[in-house]
Amino acid sequence: MRTPELPLQVDDLVLSQWDRGYDVPLVQQASRDRFIAQMCSIPIDCDVEAARDWIYRRTTERNYCSLVIFDAQLERRVGEVALHGHSDEVTANLYYWLLPSARGRGLARRACRLLCRWALTQTPLAAVSAFASQRNIASVRVLQQLGFHRVGQIPDFAGYPDRRDTFGYCLFQPPG
Ligand SMILES: CC(C)(COP(=O)(O)OP(=O)(O)OC[C@H]1O[C@@H](n2cnc3c(N)ncnc32)[C@H](O)[C@@H]1OP(=O)(O)O)[C@@H](O)C(=O)NCCC(=O)NCCS
Repeated sequence: MRTPELPLQVDDLVLSQWDRGYDVPLVQQASRDRFIAQMCSIPIDCDVEAARDWIYRRTTERNYCSLVIFDAQLERRVGEVALHGHSDEVTANLYYWLLPSARGRGLARRACRLLCRWALTQTPLAAVSAFASQRNIASVRVLQQLGFHRVGQIPDFAGYPDRRDTFGYCLFQPPG
């Protein structure tokens, strides 16, 4: 994936590059949330070295465009928004998470909007895809608010029996 010119910014939200030293505590905190850890392949409750390794992989794997979400209101780095795919393919998959302390203020929606708008206007991608469990109401709302279309149910999400209510979503137009 390509990476946008950074920082990408709107109001009190900034998307920037990972820092392999500074962002270790952020990844360690995220690793204590089992769902985020599984979704992003962070070892559960990881130590400093594992967090540093994860950031290294995230920033060097060519198929990721992964950015840190900085919340200017809290003056903290609080989450990740990422695309996974190849810029020359038709779609890339969207990932997003926030530490619990940063949730409930529409930050994820705004971060995803910034990255999706860049992807659908500045790269050859024709669509951005995403997957969300119907139990994950906040995530589904984020996708709905950005204009994602629900395109179908995943019959067996990577073999996880607790994810049978996962649907695929697609965004074809840059979000307004
Ligand atoms: C998904 C996530 C990124 C959303 O972040 P957020 O910016 O805090 O989202 P919000 O709290 O603003 O919620 C978005 C919407 O869902 C609604 N919502 C959230 N929890 C809800 C609940 N339990 N019941 C009903 N609505 C709920 C909010 O009211 C908001 O809707 P609105 O904008 O119409 O008011 C965050 O919850 C998170 O990091 N979750 C763990 C990781 C994850 O699930 N990532 C996505 C994987 S598919």
